[in-house]
Amino acid sequence: MKDQVLRVAIILGSTRPGRNGEAVCQWIYGIAKKRSDATFELVDIKDFNLPLLDEPIPPSMGQYNQEHTKVWSSKIDSFDAYVFVTAEYNHGIPGALKNAIDFLFKEWNNKVAGFVSYGSAGGVRAVEQLRLVMAELQVATVRAQVQLSLFTDFENFSKFKPALYNENLVNTMLDQVIAWGGALKVLRTKKD
Ligand SMILES: Cc1cc2nc3c(=O)[nH]c(=O)nc-3n(C[C@H](O)[C@H](O)[C@H](O)COP(=O)(O)O)c2cc1C
Repeated sequence: MKDQVLRVAIILGSTRPGRNGEAVCQWIYGIAKKRSDATFELVDIKDFNLPLLDEPIPPSMGQYNQEHTKVWSSKIDSFDAYVFVTAEYNHGIPGALKNAIDFLFKEWNNKVAGFVSYGSAGGVRAVEQLRLVMAELQVATVRAQVQLSLFTDFENFSKFKPALYNENLVNTMLDQVIAWGGALKVLRTKKD
């Protein structure tokens, strides 16, 4: 049945003009689309024009005042799992991505996330921070992750040319996201 097919968002976390994240996201999406065990959609945070968090009531209460929050909420709520594609800024999570995550709460709960990161050290410090943030949102994070180096997976730090072995890593990460995503979907269905 259609509603049993897992829906996975590939979330582009950089909103910067000229961002490398766009090419990384398109590459992930191209690999993911070859699979038949889930459906995939690109979600570009930039498209949602979120300001710095401007909701008066904490998101965990689920009472949204702003139209942009309602649109973002409805998009994120529609997925069973997320792949965060993140850069590393000053050894941490890009502010635009953290802000977008903070806007919502229950939409993330009891779901699963995988990570693809890029940076001079593979963006792994941003992912370690994201894992902590996800824990508070009750998102299960899978072990397999893809870490792309600005030195070896990009030319001149800007033209994306991923080493071939990364494609297998993407699929291993997606295997784990889809397996846990299916399990947590059962949990959410029981709760509803
Ligand atoms: C504000 C800022 C801070 C950065 N800090 C780091 C960093 O701490 N570690 C790192 O590996 N790269 C760092 N970089 C380089 C980024 O990883 C690189 O520019 C990457 O392409 C950014 O992703 P984006 O182009 O999708 O925005 C930083 C870049 C910016 C713009």
